[in-house]
Amino acid sequence: MNDCIIVTGGAGFIGSNFVNDWVKLGLGKVINLDKLTYAGNLANLADIEQNPEHIFVHGDIGHSELVGDLLKLYQPRAVVNFAAESHVDRSIHGPGEFIQTNIVGTFNLLEEARTYWSSLNDADKANFRFLHVSTDEVYGSLSATDSAFKETNAYEPNSPYSASKAASDHLVRAYHHTYGIPMLTTNCSNNYGPYHFPEKLIPLVIHNALNGKPLPIYGNGSNVRDWLYVGDHCTAIRRVLEAGRVGETYNIGGWNEKTNLEVVHTLCDILDQQKPKKSGSYCEQITFVQDRPGHDQRYAIDATKIERELGWKPAETFETGIQKTVAWYLTHQDWVNNVTSGEYKNWVNTNYKERGEELA
Ligand code: NAD
Ligand code: DAU
Repeated sequence: MNDCIIVTGGAGFIGSNFVNDWVKLGLGKVINLDKLTYAGNLANLADIEQNPEHIFVHGDIGHSELVGDLLKLYQPRAVVNFAAESHVDRSIHGPGEFIQTNIVGTFNLLEEARTYWSSLNDADKANFRFLHVSTDEVYGSLSATDSAFKETNAYEPNSPYSASKAASDHLVRAYHHTYGIPMLTTNCSNNYGPYHFPEKLIPLVIHNALNGKPLPIYGNGSNVRDWLYVGDHCTAIRRVLEAGRVGETYNIGGWNEKTNLEVVHTLCDILDQQKPKKSGSYCEQITFVQDRPGHDQRYAIDATKIERELGWKPAETFETGIQKTVAWYLTHQDWVNNVTSGEYKNWVNTNYKERGEELA
């Protein structure tokens, strides 16, 4: 077994932040397997393009032969699985890809990992880790007075996306329980930060604000999400990989609950300071549009376990992280222009036209 890891989905938002940090920190070789769907982007990895510690492989986690060959060739000490279809609204429009990648793809990865792990000697077997990156959405929706999600909460997924992630979590659990493979699962809240694809609320609002377009808020904007800066998610995953108890799940969150309306007002206030309009405020572009079907009201993570067992705490507050994020988008408009051409326009047309808003 080598000191290298295989990361899947490492050209997407969180995966690319993770891979960039890993390589820049000099933590060893990373084999980055990514299908490059609309959400995957090699530009996210431009900083480490020439670095011999990063090997990019264009491919699908559902391709057994490819995954099996990579495991045999590189003999990694860990697999970190980020690869997924990740957008709730797209899962409502077309769940098929979510079933294929999030469930069947994860199953395939687990099967290949099982074959590889079975071939290792006892010491390497004990040291191997499969870390599955999952979401708080598997726990369903909270009311305003419910306690935050703990690892012991029942799974109650409500969207095709969260149901597909829940299914993959169950498979990971079963592979540990049945075969004894050293599995770890993390369930994280909403991330934000650099390389966030502008189909999601925060980068979409920044992009639309700067382009004079409506800032679409689903329903009345009272839904609550618990926001975590992406760099903090990456430190948490590294900590779980290093010291997490095998077979355990760890909730990861920022203790930053905000309504969507609060988030959008904060973004407008920061943009008013960092990139003022000729007249008026970006808040004037806020528009209320038809709600997301089955829209979960509130997510909140109780991150006590990871803090108590592994000493992890987020470094950023929402206030510091969101300032950095807006600044990143303002200085990376080429990246934004690149990812908002082509297929992006079709998606925006499809998603917002039916909500009664023209955004494309
Ligand atoms: P993303 O959509 O930005 O990136 C997903 C990446 O996976 C892309 O690079 C894509 O090309 C790749 N991919 C998709 N299907 C693939 C396949 N079959 N084989 C190989 N690669 C494939 O997603 P993200 O926001 O970076 O999320 C990463 C992971 O973290 C997901 O598993 C998601 O469920 C989980 N998560 C996300 C958040 C969040 O707020 N974004 C929060 C908690 C958990
Ligand atoms: O909680 C973790 C999850 O967070 C991850 O598992 C998902 O992969 C990730 O996409 C995210 O899911 P959400 O559905 O919470 O994120 P999104 O940015 O799509 O929406 C955040 C909130 O903003 C949600 O309540 C819906 C609302 N929203 C979203 C969009 C795109 C709007 O009001 N308007 C919009 O245009």
